[in-house]
Amino acid sequence: MATSIVIGPSSRELAISVANKLKAEKIYVQHKKFPDGESYTRLESKIKKGSDVIIIETLFPQNDSIVELLCILDVVHEFKPKSVTLVAPYFAYSRQHERYLKWEAVSGKTVAELLDKKINRIFIFDVHHKKNLFSFFRHAKPTELSAAKQIADYFKAVENPFIIAPDQERTGFTDVVAEELGCKYSWLSKHRDRYTGKSISHMRHKIDIRGKNIIIVDDIISTGGTIISAIELLQQHGAADIYAVATHHMNVAGVAEKILAAGAKEVVATNSIPAEISKIDLSGIIADALRKK
Ligand code: R5P
Repeated sequence: MATSIVIGPSSRELAISVANKLKAEKIYVQHKKFPDGESYTRLESKIKKGSDVIIIETLFPQNDSIVELLCILDVVHEFKPKSVTLVAPYFAYSRQHERYLKWEAVSGKTVAELLDKKINRIFIFDVHHKKNLFSFFRHAKPTELSAAKQIADYFKAVENPFIIAPDQERTGFTDVVAEELGCKYSWLSKHRDRYTGKSISHMRHKIDIRGKNIIIVDDIISTGGTIISAIELLQQHGAADIYAVATHHMNVAGVAEKILAAGAKEVVATNSIPAEISKIDLSGIIADALRKK
């Protein structure tokens, strides 16, 4: 049966690249914003009844892409597909996977539940808290993909590398990068003020990083506060060059520049969210995962 790939507006280049790799039919999406801010969405061609449909749409910009995706899903279902797979390289609101303060909305759960019954499978890259987020899907089968190997590959020319995770929760990701590069890794302890959002890094224990070229690996760069706090600490402890990389860079204006100004030699991310620094391509991993069925 035919496989059709819906080219989500927020992941256009990535989706085209995956469709080319899989030699699958592309279904383009026409979309625009009305002057009042509402979205208009239309599939540019029909989908064969009973097809396996794959939608590639990263959930960024968060609120717009969620509405666009819900509209796309409604139209896709009119064609009575055999299955619907969603590839959402970045899953919006995944950092709010639990309640930290009384009466907070667990918005990661809200978004997951909006999509759950409309899809059969979902692929997400380097999930912030896999156990919690995946527990919100009761119908769709969630799968985590990782950019760790591609990140390691990007930095393979760095001599004398040492991998640092800005907090402990990133183990299972940063250690894979270190393993691929054949170097050591460690992590910092981080405290985030739940009211101001400001994060402060501390050395967890004595790690000798003098003269090492540090690659700070995180899942998300948003305001850059976490990475900048880590850079300042690592500089105080004698790091040589410092590089910053994350799977998801939220493309907030000026953040990459602030990280460079804080002393990073380079800041780079994957194309889970399109941006100037999104130089690490995920299309190969996505195509391989979709080939496996
Ligand atoms: C949080 O625990 C995440 O892993 C990232 O470190 C965090 O989301 C980065 O956000 P920001 O760039 O605003 O510090």
